[in-house]
Amino acid sequence: MITINPADLKPNEFYRYMISTIGPRPIAFASTIDSEGNVNLSPFSFFNMFSYNPPTLIFAPTINRHGHKKHTLLNLEEVGEVVINVVNYPMVEQASLASAEFERGVNEFEKAGFTAVPSERVRPPRVAESPASYECVVRQIINTNSQSDNGIDTPGTGHLVICEVVMAHFQESIFNANGGIDQASVDLVGRLGGDWYSRANVDALFAVGRPQMGMGIDQIPSAIRNSAILTGNDLGKLGSCVSLPTTEKVNAYRASGILNDLFDEARKGCQYLPDLLHLRAKQLLTENKVKDAWLTLLAG
Ligand SMILES: Cc1cc2nc3c(=O)[nH]c(=O)nc-3n(C[C@H](O)[C@H](O)[C@H](O)COP(=O)(O)O)c2cc1C
Repeated sequence: MITINPADLKPNEFYRYMISTIGPRPIAFASTIDSEGNVNLSPFSFFNMFSYNPPTLIFAPTINRHGHKKHTLLNLEEVGEVVINVVNYPMVEQASLASAEFERGVNEFEKAGFTAVPSERVRPPRVAESPASYECVVRQIINTNSQSDNGIDTPGTGHLVICEVVMAHFQESIFNANGGIDQASVDLVGRLGGDWYSRANVDALFAVGRPQMGMGIDQIPSAIRNSAILTGNDLGKLGSCVSLPTTEKVNAYRASGILNDLFDEARKGCQYLPDLLHLRAKQLLTENKVKDAWLTLLAG
C-alpha cells in the first residue's frame, strides 16, 4: 500500500492520483451566458447530482493554471443560470473540442459544432445533441479555498456551483416501451485520468440487486467465507441473502440429484468435494442464482 499525505506533494501532483482513482466521473456540459449575451459551452467532470428534492446538481470549475477564473465561472457570477447537458458517446469528441481554451466571448456551440436550442426558464441555450439537458438556477457558489489562511484563489481551487434544476429535456430515443429510461440507450461517457474515458454501453453495464437487510458476510460459515475459490463479489451476493436456507431445503436439494455429478466426480476422481461445490456455486452466482448457490455450498 502506498500512503500519501497530500500536504507532502504539490497540488497538481496529488491531482494526478485523484483524477485516475475517483471516477468514472459524469460530465456536465455547461452552457452559460454573460451579461452581454455571449454564450459559452464547456465540459466539467467535477460533477454529480446531490439531491432530488429539490433536484440539485453541483459542478466545479477550478482556477486555471494561470491563476484565472474560467469563463464559465465568470459568466455565472454575472448571470446565475446554466444548462447542464449530459455527454454521451456520439458527442464526446466534440465536447472535448469545446474544452479548448478559446478566448472569452467565443461561442463553443459554434466551435464544436453543436446546435443551440433556446431554453424555457433560463437564458443560456441547451445542446440539441445531448440526450438530457437540465435548465438550472444557480443557488450558491462555494470557493473550496475559502477556509485557508489567505483565502486566495490558486490553481486547482474549485468553485462548487450549486444548481437547482427548474426544467429538463430528454430525447425520445432514450426511453423504453414502458416509458422509463433505457440505460444502455443513454450511452453515457465518464471521465477518468489522463486522456481516458469510459463508455456505459451495453457491454459495460451490469446490474447489482439491492439487498433487503442481508445477513452480512460475517454470518457466512467460515469454510465458505474463507474459500480460495469464492471472491469478494461472490461473498457479497451470498451475504445479501436474508437468511441461510433451512436444513430441510438443503437436504431436498441434495436428494433431487442435481449435485450427483459432483459427488461422483469427488468419489471416482478423488477430487476435493468442497472445491467442486464452491466452483459450482460460483457459476450459479455468475448467473445470479443465489439461492441455488447457497443450497450447493451447504450440501457438502
Ligand atoms: C471531459 C472534460 C472534463 C473537464 N472537467 C473539468 C472540471 O471538472 N473542472 C474544470 O475546471 N475544468 C474541467 N475541464 C477543463 C475545462 O473544460 C476547460 O478548462 C475549459 O477551457 C473551460 O472553459 P471556460 O474557460 O470557457 O469555462 C474538463 C475538460 C474535459 C475535456
